[in-house]
Amino acid sequence: MTGWISLCRSIAKAGLSAGAVLLATWLTLHAQQGTIDRSGAPAALAAWDHIARVLQHPRCLNCHQENVPLQGDMRRVHIPLVVRGPDNHGVGAMRCGNCHNGSGNNETSGTPGAGGPGLWQLAPSSMLWQGLSSGDLCRMLKDTARNGGRDGAKLIEHMESEPLVLWGWNPGGDRTPVPMPHDAFVNEVKTWVAGGMTCPS
Ligand code: HEC
Ligand code: HEC
Repeated sequence: MTGWISLCRSIAKAGLSAGAVLLATWLTLHAQQGTIDRSGAPAALAAWDHIARVLQHPRCLNCHQENVPLQGDMRRVHIPLVVRGPDNHGVGAMRCGNCHNGSGNNETSGTPGAGGPGLWQLAPSSMLWQGLSSGDLCRMLKDTARNGGRDGAKLIEHMESEPLVLWGWNPGGDRTPVPMPHDAFVNEVKTWVAGGMTCPS
């Protein structure tokens, strides 16, 4: 009986150490792969994939529109109808700031808001994202002629601290926040910039 038990123990031990060796090998292989993947163009491309999913989220895309903002997760045309106007702030009585408050979301009226007085506005038409493929969106984003003259560092800063961006993680009402944690998103942007802002074709 005791013989059986000790035999079982040694088999179990042998199994464990073989397992440990396999695990160590697996970890080493993956660590090596990880080092290769975490730098340069492949890393930038992988990061871009995650970034694009955020930019194409309704919380961002609803403002990066051609002429009329969209509302909600279903992206319906803004009710009441508002248009860009010459300064991206709407026209006449339908100026964005007449309803959207700089001090934050108004939970009573259900009107989103952020960023201080007069910040809420449609993104300039050079920053139109709607309808772009992932590659075209990527090329738009890093094109200083269209992105407000932002280099990589400025893009990181914008994603890190711009109130209209941060609003996407605190949108109020029953609007879905951007699903990826904000710091993880900023890290992806940093990886993309460090890897040369590579874009898919
Ligand atoms: C309320 C409208 C609004 C929302 C919502 C919004 N943006 Fe923007 N966005 C703007 C405006 C306006 C600008 C132009 C700001 C400037 O150039 O100073 C802009 C510019 C940008 C830029 C720099 C230019 C470019 O297009 O490359 C980035 C990057 C950006 N937004 C990211 C985001 C992200 C990410 C989200 C969602 C988490 C978002 N925005 C949501 C209005 C909005
Ligand atoms: C008459 C008031 C009013 C005006 C003017 C107005 N909005 Fe709105 N807006 C609202 C209300 C209310 C909501 C919330 C609707 C809802 O969620 O059902 C809203 C929602 C939005 C959203 C949706 C956010 C999301 O992701 O769901 C965007 C984007 C937006 N407005 C942009 C603008 C822009 C840009 C302007 C100016 C060109 C503007 N709005 C002018 C009242 C207004």
